[in-house]
Amino acid sequence: PTIHVITPTYSRPVQKAELTRLANTFLHVPNLHWILVEDSQRRTPLVTRLLRETGLNYTHLNVETPRNYKLRGDTRDPRIPRGTMQRNLALRWLRETFNSNSSQAGIVYFADDDNTYSLELFEEMRSTRKVSVWPVAFVGGLRYESPKVNAAGKVYGWKTVFDPHRPFAIDMAGFAINLRLILIKPQAYFKLRGVKGGYQESSLLRELVTLNDLEPKAANCTKILVWHTRTEKPVLVNEGKKGFTDPNVEI
Ligand code: UGA
Ligand code: MN
Repeated sequence: PTIHVITPTYSRPVQKAELTRLANTFLHVPNLHWILVEDSQRRTPLVTRLLRETGLNYTHLNVETPRNYKLRGDTRDPRIPRGTMQRNLALRWLRETFNSNSSQAGIVYFADDDNTYSLELFEEMRSTRKVSVWPVAFVGGLRYESPKVNAAGKVYGWKTVFDPHRPFAIDMAGFAINLRLILIKPQAYFKLRGVKGGYQESSLLRELVTLNDLEPKAANCTKILVWHTRTEKPVLVNEGKKGFTDPNVEI
């Protein structure tokens, strides 16, 4: 199957660095289709060029998050979902592009632009029948969060400290979905309004599966194959108001 990787992205000083690192990873993955969705009014020249130059198989989309949903200042308000409209647009694109009785085998994975992905992760998710799950490092105030897996290889709960009673207490990077499931449940999207922090993933997954359907990967969820890394904001104080360096040089 083709792995459709959905990445929301937005303009900021580190954007090109993030996307370069992601592309360098994806270039090692066979049969990957990158759906990159810019949070912007129009597709930017920077991202357009970058995608073209990678040689990857990609689709370039854009949708701007309305201002009332955006982060206010620097505070990371967990009630404001980041990348949600962009992921939903990619889901819509998949449904418009493939129809449910087509034999197009595919896997859908949401890969934020700042995380770190092992190549092994993509091989693990390739065999997803409905929804597969695995641990994610550096989330929820822990070294890693993980699905709880019993001796029979069934997921029966969540090893998290932050709200383990969420229907699906899992980070965006911790699951993959079979494309067929996306196509036969055309009403399933991420909820945009009234989603408490940490409930975004549940808002989509509960439309698609129950706990009993989940397929643990990464050696029954004992291996870490993805890290929720976050890039430090670069210090650019010496640019001053007018800018010190040449603004025509793309970073
Ligand atoms: C955590 C989760 O890992 C995200 O999947 C989730 O979307 C987010 O919280 C949330 O619920 O708001 P975190 O590292 O805090 O992630 O979020 P970011 O990495 O800053 O953003 C997630 C994705 O959305 C990134 O790919 C980012 O480029 C994109 N994004 C962020 C936008 O497209 N627009 C924005 O204004 C901000
Ligand atoms: Mn992130």
